[in-house]
Amino acid sequence: MTEASDLVPEAPEPAEGSGARPGLSRRGLLGLIGAGTAGLAIGAGVGAAITASVTASGGASTAAVHPFFGAHQAGITTPVQDHLHFAAFDVDDDTTRDELVALLQDWSYAAARMTQGLDVSASGAVGGSPQAPPDDTGEALGLPASALTVTFGVGPGLFEKDGIDRFGLAARRPAELTELPAFLGDDLDPLASGGDLCVQACADDPQIAVHAVRNLTRIAFGRATLRWSQLGFGRTSKTTVAQTTPRNLFGFKDGTANILADDVAALDEHVWVPAADGPAWLVGGSYLVARRIRQTIEVWDRLRLAEQERTVGRSKGEGAPLSGGTENTDPDFEAAGESASPAIDVASHVRLAHPDFNDGTRMLRRGYNFVDGNDDLGALNAGLFFLSFQRSPQQFITVQRALAKDLLSEYLRHVGSGVWAVPPGAREGSYVGAGLFA
Ligand code: HEM
Repeated sequence: MTEASDLVPEAPEPAEGSGARPGLSRRGLLGLIGAGTAGLAIGAGVGAAITASVTASGGASTAAVHPFFGAHQAGITTPVQDHLHFAAFDVDDDTTRDELVALLQDWSYAAARMTQGLDVSASGAVGGSPQAPPDDTGEALGLPASALTVTFGVGPGLFEKDGIDRFGLAARRPAELTELPAFLGDDLDPLASGGDLCVQACADDPQIAVHAVRNLTRIAFGRATLRWSQLGFGRTSKTTVAQTTPRNLFGFKDGTANILADDVAALDEHVWVPAADGPAWLVGGSYLVARRIRQTIEVWDRLRLAEQERTVGRSKGEGAPLSGGTENTDPDFEAAGESASPAIDVASHVRLAHPDFNDGTRMLRRGYNFVDGNDDLGALNAGLFFLSFQRSPQQFITVQRALAKDLLSEYLRHVGSGVWAVPPGAREGSYVGAGLFA
């Protein structure tokens, strides 16, 4: 990561409407946000200067750097990176509305810097007082931005918890933003589910993704507390034509029929919240569903290849539909198989998840493989950390309900879950979620 000292331009005045109020940050990291009068501001000049400096700095210029500001948050249509650190937070009971606003401002400020390959603050890991803990934890020093994106979401509990409207936001909650219903076969751990806020950090270097979540957790200290987090080590989808289709832990290509970044019509129809849906603060945003799905891979690995393929509905090698063709051939659900039954089993995953059988429902999938050690029987604690972005959580609910009778579900256990509204991207000089408090 580039050393911050040469790169940080003078902090501008707080942007009009950003709500930046230095006094609000006293419970945060003082070196990062409280010392100056404008530590929270993320001015247009800052973004531009950082980008230019990173480009001029050598090492970092070779790695992908994604802009933090824009119409949509990065980390949705961005080419899926190789690694994930996902985190869900609960806002502390004694946090005020102003402190919540300050937290979101501080997070945007730090995220904007980290995504450009910078430390979280001007003094960063080694530029501050030797007598004080550094603002930045330091493990990303010398590393490039590594395509880092940081995507923020707000959960149902931010609007109302136990019947209490903690932050005066209850009236602004979109009707769709409620906890997901129970699904057949759910075995959810409440401590690894939900959360008032979420952070999805994706990068091509796991150290960079972990650094982002670690530092955002530290910045939240005194205002929000980490509830649960998940590491993912291998992408299980693609979001651009240029990316190859990766494989999940069942060994199958995953992401073939995903919505891709250049399919603007599909994104508008299925992923971005339109003005017609509202609320206004969420237009251009999306809804994120996370499911921690344990895969019983030892059982799966004992299945005959033909049975594995029947379960998915695609071939294992090519990823082609069992009705024939190559990976990108459309499945033909009417095509006959060897016996009288269809080539693609009626209970296969691709058939039951397909838009043809779900009123045209689609979603943008962005999940990751995980392996979190093993259980005491020697089975890997492994699976898919499923992430999907959609215009309404109802899209996920529709498909997940259809998958209740899916052949694949015999080898899956949903153990964690969450849903968040993902605000649109911040304009330069503002912060993610500003519209919610306007
Ligand atoms: C561990 C769990 C899962 C595994 C291993 C898995 C695997 C796969 C595979 C191999 C494909 C075919 C390739 C592709 O088009 O991407 C696929 C497609 C798909 N999956 Fe999953 N999946 C899982 C969970 C889910 C869940 C929870 C949902 C949503 C509720 C879902 C929705 C879809 C959709 C929408 C498609 C594309 C169907 C199409 O349009 O052809 N999957 N999945």
